[in-house]
Amino acid sequence: MIAIAIKNLSYHYPDRTPALLDINLQVKRGLKTAILGMNGSGKTTLLYHLNGVIPVESGEVQVFGTPVVKERITEVRRMVGLLFDNPDNQLFSTTLRNDIAFGPRNLRLEPALVHRKVEEAMQLLSIEDLADRPPYCLSLGQKKRAAIAGLISMEPQVLVFDEPFSGLDPALGRQFRELLDELVSGGCTLVYSTHDVDLAYAWADEVVLMHSGRVLKSGPVDLLCDEKTMMRANLPVPLLGRLFQGWNEKPRTLEEALNLMGSTGLAKGKRLQA
Ligand SMILES: Nc1ncnc2c1ncn2[C@@H]1O[C@H](COP(=O)(O)OP(=O)(O)OP(=O)(O)O)[C@@H](O)[C@H]1O
Ligand SMILES: [Mg+2]
Repeated sequence: MIAIAIKNLSYHYPDRTPALLDINLQVKRGLKTAILGMNGSGKTTLLYHLNGVIPVESGEVQVFGTPVVKERITEVRRMVGLLFDNPDNQLFSTTLRNDIAFGPRNLRLEPALVHRKVEEAMQLLSIEDLADRPPYCLSLGQKKRAAIAGLISMEPQVLVFDEPFSGLDPALGRQFRELLDELVSGGCTLVYSTHDVDLAYAWADEVVLMHSGRVLKSGPVDLLCDEKTMMRANLPVPLLGRLFQGWNEKPRTLEEALNLMGSTGLAKGKRLQA
């Protein structure tokens, strides 16, 4: 099933900078789709179209069949939670707890339910200790966690995250990915942008490669090992893709690589020589 359908989408910023040029793309429901591309390739501009932060100039964007247009924006924003790359664009209340409660309150949920959702979201992101602090007093990673908690508390069907892992420490990044994996296995659709090709290789089902406002190619994650396309996108092939080039089996994580090397005797042989 298609979660997001984009047809002939183009966009110019008010100063006439062309940011998106005739984008055609379909994002499948229940998958993790990573958007990759150089700085300025159009990732953020594309993601901002998915819940109407930037209104469609020409072309069409639909979320589960609902067009992303001004008249349907409340409906769309219930379905799509957008995480800005800079959490300062997302946090504005006096305390972090109030900030997280803003979304569920806006959905007019019962106060007791709002309270439960806020507590659950804070627990999931390990920020209960920060609940009464003003967001502007927090570190970047803490602000990011708060912004993510605010989105998760609204239980959107589609999560659109602009560079979600930048600024998170490695342990929190892993914890956060596990949390998102749970949401995705529950049917949630995740679209995220990243500059980390190794992360996308390990942790995406589908990828979209952008360059100069266009989608160069999109498809299953193996696309990241297509050297010609990656060169056109000015991106490196993931490390594991390079290491296991020509192998029948392609491990996507370090654990899978070690298991594969162990089962072929390669790792053992190396240890004996050492
Ligand atoms: N507010 C703006 N006004 C004018 N041009 C803009 C504005 N924001 C972005 N652009 C331009 O639009 C194009 C796409 O930018 P965008 O921010 O979508 O890229 P990106 O792929 O997200 O880059 P990055 O990896 O640096 O986050 C770039 O040429 C950029 O200079
Ligand atoms: Mg960006």
